[in-house]
Amino acid sequence: MNSLYILLIIIGINILIILIYCLPRKKNLREPSMEGFDSPEVATAFEKMTNFLPFKLLYRKVLSQLNVFNLKNSFVDVGCGSGNLIVQVAKKYPNLDLIGVDLSSEILELAKKKAVENNVNEKIVFKIGSVENLPFPDKSVEFIITTLSLHHWEDPKQAFEEIFRVLKDGGVLLIFDFRRDARNFFYGLLKFATKVVVPKALKKINEPLGSLKAGYVFSEISQIISQTSFSNVDIKPYLAWMFIKLEK
Ligand SMILES: C[S@@+](CC[C@H](N)C(=O)[O-])C[C@H]1O[C@@H](n2cnc3c(N)ncnc32)[C@H](O)[C@@H]1O
Repeated sequence: MNSLYILLIIIGINILIILIYCLPRKKNLREPSMEGFDSPEVATAFEKMTNFLPFKLLYRKVLSQLNVFNLKNSFVDVGCGSGNLIVQVAKKYPNLDLIGVDLSSEILELAKKKAVENNVNEKIVFKIGSVENLPFPDKSVEFIITTLSLHHWEDPKQAFEEIFRVLKDGGVLLIFDFRRDARNFFYGLLKFATKVVVPKALKKINEPLGSLKAGYVFSEISQIISQTSFSNVDIKPYLAWMFIKLEK
């Protein structure tokens, strides 16, 4: 490769870094987005979108975060959607009791199909349910994960109390979600994805941009959690997303 190409690549990388890290963060107000994925078109469109590379990288990132936990018996994915994460968890941790919960029967059908395709259907139980009213007895679950779902919850305070109820003592809730105060570059990317890239059914409901706009910022989510029974809280904000760990 001649030196001009190398110079152009270096300039390109620098411009990208400047765009990603130097554009200011958004300061917009939260715009709630409550929908469950209960129309077949939206569920299928979401499933298609999760085949894009950024989503695949995202699930890989979340999966790698699980390494630090001593996962033993029960593992619940709340708002499991089309099963992208829980199917990967089933492959990586074949001895866990895995349960995926979601509001939407349409999306759960896709999750069941994915579990069959990946030969892990005997390892995962899928249940319809809401995070505000979970289908589990008190103190029965060791680990709960939820990805890209928190921003849809109608009553997050009630949801956290419900999760506290079903967790065993010492149990953990791990949340991965967008942070609304992402940098403008990320807004630009999601605006482009929403307007141009994603299937029509998602364009109609303004997704995935709507989810970013519905995300919480650090101060808001800290304030909500401070009103719940959880006291052991660790929030790690990143570029456009955050991990929140709550321990009972
Ligand atoms: C953007 S999808 C994310 C799905 C999956 N966690 C993933 O990362 O691919 C959000 C999911 O949360 C579900 N959801 C929204 N509100 C919920 C609630 N209150 N209780 C349970 N699930 C909910 C929706 O039906 C949808 O499947």
